[in-house]
Amino acid sequence: MTSTDRTGTVLVTGAAGFIGSHTCVDLLAAGHRVVGVDNFVNSSPRVLDRLRKVADRDLEFVRLDVRDRAALGEVFRRQPIDAVIHFAALKAVGESVEMPLEYYDTNVNATLGLVGVMAEHGVHRLVFSSSCSIYGTVDTVPITEDTPARPTNPYSRTKWMCEQILADVCARDPAWQVISLRYFNPVGAHESGLLGEDPRGVPNNVMPYLAQVAVGRRAELSVFGDDYPTPDGTGVRDYIHVVDLAEGHRLALDHLADQSGHRVVNLGTGAGTSVRELHAAFSAACGRDLPYRVVARRPGDVAALVADATLAREALGWTARRSVADMCRDAWQFQRLNPGGYDDEGEPDEHVGQ
Ligand SMILES: NC(=O)c1ccc[n+]([C@@H]2O[C@H](COP(=O)([O-])OP(=O)(O)OC[C@H]3O[C@@H](n4cnc5c(N)ncnc54)[C@H](O)[C@@H]3O)[C@@H](O)[C@H]2O)c1
Repeated sequence: MTSTDRTGTVLVTGAAGFIGSHTCVDLLAAGHRVVGVDNFVNSSPRVLDRLRKVADRDLEFVRLDVRDRAALGEVFRRQPIDAVIHFAALKAVGESVEMPLEYYDTNVNATLGLVGVMAEHGVHRLVFSSSCSIYGTVDTVPITEDTPARPTNPYSRTKWMCEQILADVCARDPAWQVISLRYFNPVGAHESGLLGEDPRGVPNNVMPYLAQVAVGRRAELSVFGDDYPTPDGTGVRDYIHVVDLAEGHRLALDHLADQSGHRVVNLGTGAGTSVRELHAAFSAACGRDLPYRVVARRPGDVAALVADATLAREALGWTARRSVADMCRDAWQFQRLNPGGYDDEGEPDEHVGQ
């Protein structure tokens, strides 16, 4: 991948996951070769055929655990890799409090190993999945990248530690070209209805929960607190369509071709949506008023997290284009066609918007 030819071979870790699968589709469509790796700890192997079908292109795939440096090294030995997008991680905040060692091992140790293997093979271009959760409780929104990181749980600390490790590596060796993308709240699904978010167990996030209420898998949405200092009292978040997010990764790769060092960029829309507003939008998308109940605040939740998305626009030329209505329409479409998720028998029988 040179600054004139922007396509190349991209290793995508966590390729079968929610954001990874949508990003593979976007990269393949743009002409990149993609080598995906995943151990399916939080995803289904069925995703791979679906993403090949949506992209109408093949991707190479290796089942491995990213903590296994020898297996990663073998992938780099087998073919030239130009750049890496590192999604593979454990991501549930509550679980990270219960299982901190697993989180530090998977998220931090594996990143250290990956960077080491990349260095051994002369690959220095990396897009790292970071999170807006590293900002913790903020005093002001929208949140710029200069806002001090104050992570409040092991998951967020793993992301913050990885960012610091990457910054140190880049400071030592100017060959490195690294960008940490701090995502706000990725939701939605591919418009084909073939790819989407399919959490294992009870969803931690409001959008997949709403989708499961809409499809009859859950009785009602629990709204965690309506006494926050927000316009309607419910929590406000910056929801971003996963396809917009996927495009952001491709543009970040393009951007890296021309810059060295470590850069941090927020990926969000810059607009906040409350839980009540999201509930109304999802009810409109699925055509019925979904049941909900207001319950106590959830420990660790904050009133509002909204990105200042200026840097992404200026540095990457990226702006989120899809609305909250689009996010709800696509998430509902995926859930409707796959009521039990990827592990339902058979393929969905309707594919719109191909
Ligand atoms: N979805 C969000 O709300 C959100 C927000 C901010 C940041 N992120 C970050 O974005 C990245 C992708 O998130 P996602 O929502 O697609 O999650 P996901 O769980 O759907 O995808 C992660 C993928 O990584 C794989 N994986 C995990 N551990 C692995 C290991 N040891 N070896 C190989 N594969 C492994 C999982 O099987 C899964 O397919 C993660 O790093 C996450 O922390 C996600």
